[in-house]
Amino acid sequence: MTAPDPATVRVGDLAVWKREGRRFIMLTAYDHPTARLLDAAGVPVLLVGDSLGMAVLGHPNTLTVTLRAIVHHAAAVARGAEHALLVGDLPFRSARGTPERVTRDACRLLGAGGMHAVKLEGGGPAVELTSHLVARGIPVMGHLGLTPQSLHALGGWRVQGRGAQARTALLAAIRELEEAGAFAVVLEGVPAALGAELTRSTALPTIGIGAGPGCDGQVLVLHDLLGLTPGGGPRFARAFADVAGAITQAARAFQDEVAAGRFPDDAHSYR
Ligand code: KIV
Repeated sequence: MTAPDPATVRVGDLAVWKREGRRFIMLTAYDHPTARLLDAAGVPVLLVGDSLGMAVLGHPNTLTVTLRAIVHHAAAVARGAEHALLVGDLPFRSARGTPERVTRDACRLLGAGGMHAVKLEGGGPAVELTSHLVARGIPVMGHLGLTPQSLHALGGWRVQGRGAQARTALLAAIRELEEAGAFAVVLEGVPAALGAELTRSTALPTIGIGAGPGCDGQVLVLHDLLGLTPGGGPRFARAFADVAGAITQAARAFQDEVAAGRFPDDAHSYR
């Protein structure tokens, strides 16, 4: 038996980083070339999120994303990543299914999709599903706050956890997720002070997106990070590059060079 690669990230590492106060990042990935680049750049956690529907497939929300689509993209990501911990999202329909269905779908994400863990949105019934999966040896990352799969129930893309009752409910939900055996939790769209309070309240590593700087880690959707989201994305997103500009410029340069008869030149032609 070969020893595990020391640079490979495991689910338990996130709790160690939390205890050590080491902040970390997670990024979404949907295909082989970007997974390869992000993995080589040292991104420790890659999430094949159901944001796939919005970022890549042009849907208005995540509700239409199928397990089949996530597994298809997950397998491409898994072929590109050597060291990162790979997490696959359980889409809307799986996450609202029976324990049997959610187990079957999670097994497909870990089997055919090559993921190491799944992510499940919400508290309440999702906590029970989390216990069910964890008991079967499937690591689960939770997701609380503005959970996009509950978009309609929440009445839109609204910041969650405002007001005493909502705050108490989130504090209870994160405790339940910890007891259910989740290994980490995404906190999305909550006030920064609550993001910090939730993080202090639990041994679970928290990964924030629009949840302020007090979380243990931060996640961004890759297309927001790269400046590929039309209009710049939500308030919490920051573009760290202008890839949209680079793509437009490359396409125009190609067009100009062909129109001018400068491409292909000798160096790019066969003799
Ligand atoms: O689907 C996704 O990409 C997510 C992240 C925004 C956390 O859930």
